[in-house]
Amino acid sequence: MKILIAYATRFGTTEKCAGMLAEILKEKGNEVKLMDLKKNKSVKIQNDLVVVGGSFVAFRMNAIVKRFVKRNLDTLLNMKTGIFMCGADEDWEKEIKKGFPEELLDKAVAKGYFGFEMNWDKMNPMVRNIMQKAWKTTEPVSKINIENIRKFAEEIAEALP
Ligand SMILES: Cc1cc2nc3c(=O)[nH]c(=O)nc-3n(C[C@H](O)[C@H](O)[C@H](O)COP(=O)(O)O)c2cc1C
Repeated sequence: MKILIAYATRFGTTEKCAGMLAEILKEKGNEVKLMDLKKNKSVKIQNDLVVVGGSFVAFRMNAIVKRFVKRNLDTLLNMKTGIFMCGADEDWEKEIKKGFPEELLDKAVAKGYFGFEMNWDKMNPMVRNIMQKAWKTTEPVSKINIENIRKFAEEIAEALP
């Protein structure tokens, strides 16, 4: 089956998670295309299933992901989809509803929370300073939830013939 994973990332986490998901789905025999929405302005959706993923920064879903969903909502609502998010907020089920349209979440064959990282080296010095104070550490923080990524991949695989 042909799967498109469309994502955007601010500090690299969503890209990493999308790559991990792609590897698992490929192992299950699917043809997987990864698409960084920041680099691909016009996207042709010709797939059996589309996964859309992005992160929350400052209480907002990545604007590039939001724009992609808005532009392609009719298409997405008429096909199989999976939606995932990255973020540090533990109440992800509440947060994801702020990032994606309700009807899309309701129809998605899989919804997932893939965890988060604090990639200090990718932040500008001011943001890094504020976040390191808030997190009380200068050590790298990596809380990618591989179990959730595997579970999401299972749900995707089950939805495909
Ligand atoms: C400045 C800043 C603000 C953030 N705000 C939120 C937030 O409002 N909600 C949340 O769940 N996570 C928040 N996070 C955590 C990010 O979602 C996390 O770092 C994630 O791994 C970023 O993914 P990305 O690199 O793919 O954009 C924030 C992180 C930073 C650095």
